Amino acid sequence: MVERVNLGNTGIEISPLGIGTWAWGDRVMWGSGKSGHYTQADIRAAFDAAISAGINFFDTAEVYGLGKSERMLGAFARQSHAPIVVASKFFPFPWRLTKRAFHRALRHSLLRLGIERMDLYQIHFPYPPVRIETWMDAMADAVEAGLIRAVGVSNYNAEQLGRAYNALGERGIKLASNQVFYSLLHRTPEHDGVRQMCRDLGVTMIAYSPLEKGILTGKYTPASPPSGIRGRMYRPWYLARVQPLLATMREIGAAHGGKTLPQIALNWVICKGAVPIPGAKNARQAISNLGSLGWRLTEAEISRLDEASEGLTELRYRGKPKASQ
Ligand SMILES: NC(=O)c1ccc[n+]([C@@H]2O[C@H](COP(=O)([O-])OP(=O)(O)OC[C@H]3O[C@@H](n4cnc5c(N)ncnc54)[C@H](OP(=O)(O)O)[C@@H]3O)[C@@H](O)[C@H]2O)c1
Repeated sequence: MVERVNLGNTGIEISPLGIGTWAWGDRVMWGSGKSGHYTQADIRAAFDAAISAGINFFDTAEVYGLGKSERMLGAFARQSHAPIVVASKFFPFPWRLTKRAFHRALRHSLLRLGIERMDLYQIHFPYPPVRIETWMDAMADAVEAGLIRAVGVSNYNAEQLGRAYNALGERGIKLASNQVFYSLLHRTPEHDGVRQMCRDLGVTMIAYSPLEKGILTGKYTPASPPSGIRGRMYRPWYLARVQPLLATMREIGAAHGGKTLPQIALNWVICKGAVPIPGAKNARQAISNLGSLGWRLTEAEISRLDEASEGLTELRYRGKPKASQ
């Protein structure tokens, strides 16, 4: 059975890897519902495979599939009777200006999920105009009203994280988590102080897109890049630059008795102290990702992966170097 780790200092116990559910019902980014793509039965099979393996942590958001992801997750959990830890997110649209708007959104998420209390409720982005302190106050009200067990944030930088932590602290509540983009190809939280601050404050760092939207599985190559929006995010010239890292991952996987690329990518995140929430569209992906649990990369292997991925985050954002144009 899968071990449990603490979600911040909340007393809530989660599996060291969760399942991300953005693709569950999302058509624009992931192609849900398009012919030839994955079906609802595939998604249900992913959920069942994760539950059977002992995973209890699922991440969704009100905006995923415009509510479809929350509905599916709620229905699957009810039908399976599995005691899961549900994390969802409030999106601070610029027209949501009041604590009342926050509570309305929370109530709607609870209704879609079919639950009375959210285990972890997160502010999706630190967007203005509403101050961080106002949203944290709304969170604290919801905790006191018994609607939320734990409070999280997402995409907060170190300064914003500190403000959220302090504002909640004034209401006697510990911030549980900060969900940020973190993968071998996006190591910004190591350099911008976010990972260190999470550690210092006892806040769980939840790593989203830990497989870099499938790029770190090795199935997309310069000759066969992903299609759609992902194809515009990850161009062939960048996929070519990623190949040496993938080769290193393959070597390390072989040394561990045939661990796959996604398993190496996720184990690296776990070894760095974060909880990855890889997306899974079917049982095969969910089961494959679960193979990242129950073993650990050595310190030397982590250093090799750090070296092989050095500079790849910055390269993607800088764009195509002149020499390779
Ligand atoms: N807070 C935020 O702002 C934010 C932002 C993004 C994501 N998230 C959360 O993080 C979760 C994960 O991030 P993500 O979905 O962006 O990316 P990801 O986990 O890096 O990649 C997921 C995608 O990789 C492919 N995949 C997964 N496992 C695989 C396997 N074993 N073998 C081959 N392919 C595999 C699948 O897509 P294909 O089969 O189509 O390749 C899958 O949809 C989301 O579901 C969401 O819950 C949060």
